[in-house]
Amino acid sequence: MEWAKVASGSEGLELFTREGEYLVNVDGKELMSSYCHVSEDALATVSRRCTTLAMPQIMIGGLGLGFTLAAYIKEFGDGAELSVVEKSPDIIHWYNTYTKRNSVGDLDDSKVNFICNDISKYNPQKRFDVIALDVDNGPEAICGAHNQTLYNRPGLKRIYEQLNPHGTLLLWSAFDSESYIEDARQSGFEVSTEVVDIPETGWTHYIFICKKN
Ligand SMILES: C[S@@+](CC[C@H](N)C(=O)[O-])C[C@H]1O[C@@H](n2cnc3c(N)ncnc32)[C@H](O)[C@@H]1O
Repeated sequence: MEWAKVASGSEGLELFTREGEYLVNVDGKELMSSYCHVSEDALATVSRRCTTLAMPQIMIGGLGLGFTLAAYIKEFGDGAELSVVEKSPDIIHWYNTYTKRNSVGDLDDSKVNFICNDISKYNPQKRFDVIALDVDNGPEAICGAHNQTLYNRPGLKRIYEQLNPHGTLLLWSAFDSESYIEDARQSGFEVSTEVVDIPETGWTHYIFICKKN
C-alpha cells in the first residue's frame, strides 16, 4: 500500500500515513517513522539509569512523532520536569492533530513544557540533569546545517554548560562515530556507548552517553 501524503511543512518536511502508521520525510529522505521506535524509547531507560534525582530536569530535542516523549512520560511519570524543544511548528501541529494519538496515546502530556525553538540556538534559563538529542540521524546535520553546531567541540562545550554537575547528554544515532566520541571527550565529557540491536529489523542503533564530570 502506498504512503498517502497528509501534509507538507516548511524546510522540506512532509508527513505521510499508511494503515495508521506515520512517516516524516525531510527533503525526500526518511527522518522518522512509527514502525520501529525501540532505540528512541531506549533514551528514556538509559536516562533513568543516569540519574537518581527525585525530580530531574530533562530536555528532549526534538519532538518528531512523539515516541521518545511517550517513553519519558512512561519512565518518569510525574517524577521529572520534561521540556521538549522542537524547531518546526509544523511538527508540533502534526503532533497535536495526527501523530500524538499513535505515540503518546492516553498518556498525560499536559505537564510537558513544549518549546518551539531551535535547540542549537536555544539558551535555556535553567540547567538540566539530562539533555537527550534525537534531531538528526546521528552526529551529522540533516535537519539544517546549523545542527552541526550541536556536534562539534564548541557546540558540545555549550551543551556541557547547559547541564547541571553530573548531568548527562544522550545522543541518539543510527551509526557509530569515533570522531563524535573523541570530540565529546575533548569537550570534558566521559563517554560510553549503549548499542541497541533490534533483531526484528536487523538495525543497530547507538546512544552516546556523555557524562559531565
Ligand atoms: C528524528 S526526529 C525525532 C524523532 C523522535 N525521537 C520520536 O520519537 O518521534 C527529529 C526531530 O527533531 C526536530 N529538529 C531537527 N533539528 C532541530 C533543532 N535544531 N532544534 C529542535 N528540533 C529539531 C525535527 O523537526 C524532528 O521533529
